[in-house]
Amino acid sequence: MKRHASRIGLEPTLPAAGAFAVSGRVAATLASQRPRERAILVGAEGWKRQAFSGLESLTELERLADTAGLITVARVLQSLRKPSAATFIGAGKVEEVRELVHAVAADVVVFDEPLSPAQQRNLEASLRVKVIDRSQLILDIFAQRARSLEGKLQVELAQLQYLLPRLTRQWAHLSRLGGGVGTRGPGETQLEVDRRKVRERMAHIRRRLREVARTRQLHRVARADAPFPTIVLVGYTNAGKSTLMNRLTGAESQVADRLFATLDPMTRQLRLPSGSVALLVDTVGFIHKLPHGFVNAFRSTLEEVQTADLLLHVVDASHPNREQQVHTVHQVLAELGAQDKPQIVVWNKMDLLEGEPLGIAWSGSSSRVSARTGQGIDQLLARIEATLAQRLEEVRVALPLNRGDLVARARRFGRILSEEYSSDFVELNALVPAKLAGQLRSVALAPAKREESGPASLATTPARQP
Ligand code: GTP
Repeated sequence: MKRHASRIGLEPTLPAAGAFAVSGRVAATLASQRPRERAILVGAEGWKRQAFSGLESLTELERLADTAGLITVARVLQSLRKPSAATFIGAGKVEEVRELVHAVAADVVVFDEPLSPAQQRNLEASLRVKVIDRSQLILDIFAQRARSLEGKLQVELAQLQYLLPRLTRQWAHLSRLGGGVGTRGPGETQLEVDRRKVRERMAHIRRRLREVARTRQLHRVARADAPFPTIVLVGYTNAGKSTLMNRLTGAESQVADRLFATLDPMTRQLRLPSGSVALLVDTVGFIHKLPHGFVNAFRSTLEEVQTADLLLHVVDASHPNREQQVHTVHQVLAELGAQDKPQIVVWNKMDLLEGEPLGIAWSGSSSRVSARTGQGIDQLLARIEATLAQRLEEVRVALPLNRGDLVARARRFGRILSEEYSSDFVELNALVPAKLAGQLRSVALAPAKREESGPASLATTPARQP
């Protein structure tokens, strides 16, 4: 737990709500890292019930800022009964932040709460620096991280959705709007366009996304034809999904102590203890206060979650906010309509708990592992196999001897309980995915045929139990 505090260089305690906090560490690094933009983070608490405290949320915002390439030079947390319609924080606090901007030579002020377009404009006019909110910061990170065509299109769509209500007749603001952190907006050319053009661009992106989704659908159909079960890793950002993927499959997906290191889904083969194969898909991490429209924009990528046979919900067990993080992931899964999927909760980073009890009551299926050390991985694999086996169907069929390919498929995608050969057919008893069960039944020899082509006794041979 201490790890988190030291990793982001937090002061042991933040001054009382409403006070300014200027990190000493930052003063030292400022001079050597001039090119990185300097940020003041502003959070507020007390005005609505939230799963995360203002300080916890601000701490996470600092990590997001760091991931986006900003240096946090000061943090401000205000206690608010009701946000101001004009500037979110009160007028006196705006004045304090303005002085602070000057004192620490900040380039940008990042609000932890979503700002209305008017609040953002008013704050920029008062503070005289760029003002962005958490949503825009997350979108900026996504813009930096997107690799695939689909990922890039989705990010651009989400950015344009964010931009659209912020287009006003005050054209002077446009030069800022596309920018976000650095110059990673929807692109310089977007800055001069009007709403109609933005809408046209959005319609164009949606069309392209539909095309990409069709291709993805074709791949999925091809995958369904080879009935590998699909296991999808989900979890809060930085929970260790990619590390677990690497540990389970030997894949080289990107692991970084950074938020949202993985943006595009990545698929690898996973060999289970019995030798059967499943597909393992890594997905974008979730986070609380996701930008509005995020789930919609990323729906096609997140479809992987909807079509999964099993979800591995990875949780950083060492994180002080693990329960809130679990809650956030459940909320996003519910938004995707995937809350009832079979799920194994994987408490990861157990190496950091050093024998401490988890202290979390969990009724469903769960495993405790360390993706880093390998602890608990064998038990997790056994649990995955047992959970997947529940979705297999038992078939008992007699197959013509020339259909050795189907026996091989049953071995590959399921589990063979018994196979007995006669001179004309093979009697197979196996647990296989529903689709393969249908295929096997469709080519199975009818009882009369079996009697014709082999000894009657074999047709009734009881299957050997495993
Ligand atoms: P996003 O891409 O943000 O969604 O992150 P992720 O869930 O894919 O996490 P990732 O695998 O990138 O790991 C995040 C950080 O946690 C990295 O620094 C990992 O080395 C570290 N980590 C992952 N698993 C473990 C573990 O079992 N123990 C410890 N100590 N660290 C771990």
